[in-house]
Amino acid sequence: MGDINLESFLIGDDEVVPRARYTSGEFAALEFERLWARVWQVACREEEIAEIGDYYEYLIGDQSLLVVRSDADVVRAYYNTCLHRGTRLAEGAGHFDNECIRCRYHAWRYDLRGKLIEVVDAQEFAPMPLDVCLDQVRVDRWGGFVWVCLDPAAPPLLEYLDPLPTLLAPYHLDRLRIRSYLATVLPANWKVVVDAFNEGYHVQGTHPQILPWTDDVNLDYETLGIHSHYGRLPNARRTLRPSPRLGLAEGEYDEGEILASFVAGLGALFYDDERALIDKVRSAPPDGETILSRYQKGRRELLATRGVAVEEFADDQLTSADDVFFFPNMVGPIYPGNAIFFRVRPNALDPDSSVKDTWFLEWPREATDYKRAQRRFYPNWTERDWGRITNQDYANMEHVQVGMKSRGGRGLRLNRRQESNILHMHRMIDRYLTDS
Ligand code: FES
Ligand SMILES: [Fe+2]
Repeated sequence: MGDINLESFLIGDDEVVPRARYTSGEFAALEFERLWARVWQVACREEEIAEIGDYYEYLIGDQSLLVVRSDADVVRAYYNTCLHRGTRLAEGAGHFDNECIRCRYHAWRYDLRGKLIEVVDAQEFAPMPLDVCLDQVRVDRWGGFVWVCLDPAAPPLLEYLDPLPTLLAPYHLDRLRIRSYLATVLPANWKVVVDAFNEGYHVQGTHPQILPWTDDVNLDYETLGIHSHYGRLPNARRTLRPSPRLGLAEGEYDEGEILASFVAGLGALFYDDERALIDKVRSAPPDGETILSRYQKGRRELLATRGVAVEEFADDQLTSADDVFFFPNMVGPIYPGNAIFFRVRPNALDPDSSVKDTWFLEWPREATDYKRAQRRFYPNWTERDWGRITNQDYANMEHVQVGMKSRGGRGLRLNRRQESNILHMHRMIDRYLTDS
């Protein structure tokens, strides 16, 4: 790494973000060494490795990590490599039978705690110490997610996440379970993908069809330590108004219609009974309450029947997402009782390609009514219809990436309010790059 000109990649005093951060292979390698190898990152959800012996392979850069439930309440992570001749020990997700990890090549065996327990024809090898183990990776759990960190010197997970655990405590994310899990490869740098879900500024340009029921202008953006969030924060709670960009006066739009479109537009998030509630609150006679507050009350009651701890939320929060960005690569709208998380990683070390995982999480009525969801993987995003809004987002990606490589233009010039969380992310990346 010695001869990289780090200076040329850093954000200047003018706040212009160099495009090479999105396009350069050299920068991607630097990012791997200084960022990915040092941050805490989500490997999987806990429910994906619910049973002793279940495993999940997490790939980051050119590294494959093996996350394993070794005991009822113990999750471990290892570098996914056999101590004999290096073979990867497991791929994808699955279960190790007989609580034993067996290498496919010469059948060396390890127990779930990583200890080497059998070497075939051991007497023909140079003597090995008794307690040879797979190399461990730091692992911790929070919010129902399993987190890993390659850096033994990094701060503990809760310190890294601060203040998100406090902010998100009422949501009890650990109680949520995966309803559906989609993954795909997108033809753009991982940051292009993250950026697309970290601001509302593109709504008017990319998703104009939702402006009649979305106030895209009055969103709040706020940094939280190295992380950030945006959305209907306390100063910008949901109202049943169209985008101010449309210039409609009161009386020129129908609040019931806006509420119905909002709930339908977020169809993947809301439960059937909550969608059905729309007709009820729209047809209920006016009684001094607004349609929105009637809907919020109704939703509170429905969520309570599921066991969601609704008393921890103000009425406003029942229809307002908190879009939280977990630095460096996970973002998504979190509502009481359900959430969507997007996780984006570089595809190996390729600056022009990324892997995006989408978890739709819901609050199961009973812990037992949860059926494990399989990850559905689309190697090319165009193989699936992701819904109109997401299709529009994905269709942008390639154009951003191709355009970023142009010799014309300079760097990214970010909106100081609506794209402030993107600038913050870049500043935090710079902190990792320069702090060695
Ligand atoms: S490489 Fe694993 S047993 Fe030989
Ligand atoms: Fe979008």
